[in-house]
Amino acid sequence: MTSRPAIPRHIAIVMDGNGRWAKLRHRPRSFGHNAGRKAVREVVEGCLREGVEALTLFAFSSENWKRPEEEVGALMALFVRALDKETEELHAQGVRLRFVGDLTAFDEPLRERMQAAMAHTAGNRRLQLSVAVNYGGRWDIVQAARQAAAAVARGALRPEAIDEAMLGQRMCLAELPPLDLFIRTGGECRLSNFLLWQAAYAELHFTDTLWPDFDQACLHRAIEDYGRRERRYGRTGEQIASDKG
Ligand code: IPE
Ligand code: IPE
Ligand code: MG
Repeated sequence: MTSRPAIPRHIAIVMDGNGRWAKLRHRPRSFGHNAGRKAVREVVEGCLREGVEALTLFAFSSENWKRPEEEVGALMALFVRALDKETEELHAQGVRLRFVGDLTAFDEPLRERMQAAMAHTAGNRRLQLSVAVNYGGRWDIVQAARQAAAAVARGALRPEAIDEAMLGQRMCLAELPPLDLFIRTGGECRLSNFLLWQAAYAELHFTDTLWPDFDQACLHRAIEDYGRRERRYGRTGEQIASDKG
């Protein structure tokens, strides 16, 4: 294991700043969300080019339902349009698409569309793209704990057997490489309830760039920044250096 891998295997992005981007242009917030689609295409292209294995995008948080009804409706409509339009292109690029989050909140036709897109791209291997919708990091931990509790109740699991590895296997994204790089656009330096468990040892990269302006060059800069970090996982810099030597 090298301490300074140049390319993160798994990147997650909080795609923030659409509303402010639209406001700067005196347009409705939904205009900014729509413009964000281009940035999604940019980061997918960038990950394919750089050889990143997994990309996880925060599209709608479990808290975003609190937004005005009109904005939530516009986001759902955009989501359906993007799903219909982009799935084929992603498939052609060798991208496997997954949706993570509490999907039970969505209506049946939308859920079916999501399932169909997941099934259609399930054999692809070049890039694992996960889109987090109605996702919350606390929800994720709760659902994993609930699965473990149910196994205990059926007598299939001893409480003493519940450890980090076991609970981790029940969290979203467990089948992917560990999260290496967590990016947030839009200038806020917070996690906003994204991937709380999975980000425990991720490198964090915050940029003021608003999401619709984020492009392959911005992604490349984030990857370069990551390449300069020393990941110590609790050990000392000297220990890491002697491992390499
Ligand atoms: C992120 O952009 C997109 C979603 C949360 C769906 P915002 O809509 O939060 O944009 P700002 O933060 O208000 O600029
Ligand atoms: C986080 O952004 C959620 C997504 C980008 C989908 P928010 O804009 O909702 O986060 P807060 O409210 O500023 O923390
Ligand atoms: Mg925001």
